[in-house]
Amino acid sequence: MPRKKVTIVGAGMTGGAMAQRLIERDICDVVLQDDPQFAGTMHHGKALDESQAAPWEGFSTRIMATDGWEETADSDVVVVTAGAPRKPGMSREELLNGNAEIVRSKVAAAAKVSPNAVIIVFSNPMDAMCHVAMQASGFPRERVIGQGGALDSARYRYFIAAELGVSVNDVHGYVIGGHTDTTMVPVVSQTRVGGVPLTDLLPPEKVQAIVARAMRGGAEIGELYKTGSAYFAPSAATIAMVEAILLDQRRLIPCSVYHQGEYGIRDVFSGTVCQLGEGGIQRTFELPLTDEERAKVIAAAEATKELLKLLN
Ligand code: 2OP
Repeated sequence: MPRKKVTIVGAGMTGGAMAQRLIERDICDVVLQDDPQFAGTMHHGKALDESQAAPWEGFSTRIMATDGWEETADSDVVVVTAGAPRKPGMSREELLNGNAEIVRSKVAAAAKVSPNAVIIVFSNPMDAMCHVAMQASGFPRERVIGQGGALDSARYRYFIAAELGVSVNDVHGYVIGGHTDTTMVPVVSQTRVGGVPLTDLLPPEKVQAIVARAMRGGAEIGELYKTGSAYFAPSAATIAMVEAILLDQRRLIPCSVYHQGEYGIRDVFSGTVCQLGEGGIQRTFELPLTDEERAKVIAAAEATKELLKLLN
């Protein structure tokens, strides 16, 4: 059987970190696609540098960089990181039209040569960029997925684990809704630590502080980095999604999906728990929400619809 193939579009800090995580898993070949206009020869450098790690890391992954699209043909998964990252003090939404243009052209080119690929959208504002990617590719909803909830849930779970001093592996909680500082919805009512509700383990003010910090998780890292945005946790979250799809793991990961009735929401990308495996989204799960959580999830979808009205 030929090895699976994953194309990472955009070889900046996040694309590069994703490539490294994926390459060292040794589960597919990897193509780093970028534009010399933005990246110069950086993507070629990253591909060659990482190839030379093979003797010590022991992987057999073939890694290639390209300025064009031919080498990306027949990819199983295409991860789109292209576009500007947000700078400190900037919201993800402010990137809308600049990044839409880049995502539109990159996705159209990628989809043409990889008509069966699953597209994972990383570029911000992520939920809106999923719409752009869906339109540019013409792919069905199963094969256009936004990373967002996977990352936001990781931050949420980390803060809970750190507060309680327990392993993050035993913290189960999901962040759904939008991937913005104001519209993400950490689902406190369904968060469990070793099966115990979070609200039985921490007082409401501590829970609220964790929720608030998780919602500003990306902004906090940007303020610390000063020149750009997060990439270690974002790359880990995205590559977990890629792996689930390539290996048909059927993992339940919160992602942005084109809603078709989930929570009563239709025709807009928003976050919910999805089963990821062969072919992309195999099933969506609706969490049992409190009335307040449900209202926030609906408001998040409305906010994305409003943002889409500003798309050129
Ligand atoms: C984040 O939240 C970049 O949107 C990404 O860090």
